[in-house]
Amino acid sequence: MSAPLIASARHGPRIAPRHAGRPWTWVLDIDGESWLLRPIDPADAEALREGFRQLSPEEIRQRFLHPLTELTHEHALQLASIDPRREFALVLAHPGPPGASRIGAVARVAIDPRSGEGEFAVIVGRPLSGRGIGTFLVRRLIEWCRRKRLPAIFGLSLDDNAPMLAIASRLGFSRSSLIGEPGIVLLRLQLQPAGVHPSRREG
Ligand SMILES: CC(C)(COP(=O)(O)OP(=O)(O)OC[C@H]1O[C@@H](n2cnc3c(N)ncnc32)[C@H](O)[C@@H]1OP(=O)(O)O)[C@@H](O)C(=O)NCCC(=O)NCCS
Repeated sequence: MSAPLIASARHGPRIAPRHAGRPWTWVLDIDGESWLLRPIDPADAEALREGFRQLSPEEIRQRFLHPLTELTHEHALQLASIDPRREFALVLAHPGPPGASRIGAVARVAIDPRSGEGEFAVIVGRPLSGRGIGTFLVRRLIEWCRRKRLPAIFGLSLDDNAPMLAIASRLGFSRSSLIGEPGIVLLRLQLQPAGVHPSRREG
């Protein structure tokens, strides 16, 4: 059964995802098209490169915090090949096998070896933005971090990135500036009481 769209006063139809019967996998109906939100796969590398070519320089700067003109095959393969013990990444893709499906959004989190906290990054391509997808993705990253019993999740954002700041604020992240990094803010959500260290790591 298809889930109802939830109307948003500010941004038109929002997405009501439904579970697809596999772990970390949902179906989203967006403007009459079915999209699959699923864990990333190494075979997605070329689709990541294609998706990157569709991004504006501003979107790239917001995601990577510096200009990047090309996503090389090696970089894309690295982004698509995750170590499940310390990383988690979801792609919003057209249905079809990895490698044969276009990608419209990506969200990832990796455990920072120094702090043990999860560092996240997310990108939703402009055609799909403003429907609650970014919020849904960050919620899933938080869920993964909670399952791993990580003390906190954090991400870096440009301080003029209104949509990212709106998501962070809505989900309860704190915001602080970084010494020596003008224009960049640290967004951080405490997941465990301070002083509690990860005692159990779940898959
Ligand atoms: C940031 C990003 C992921 C948001 O994705 P999205 O799917 O559009 O996000 P959502 O629809 O869940 O939420 C966007 C929120 O920003 C708000 N927003 C959008 N434009 C805004 C603006 N100009 N001013 C203030 N708020 C704005 C929306 O109102 C919405 O909040 P609401 O749900 O309370 O209405 C997307 O814009 C993106 O990929 N940007 C480029 C990469 C990036 O910036 N990544 C973040 C750093 S890693």
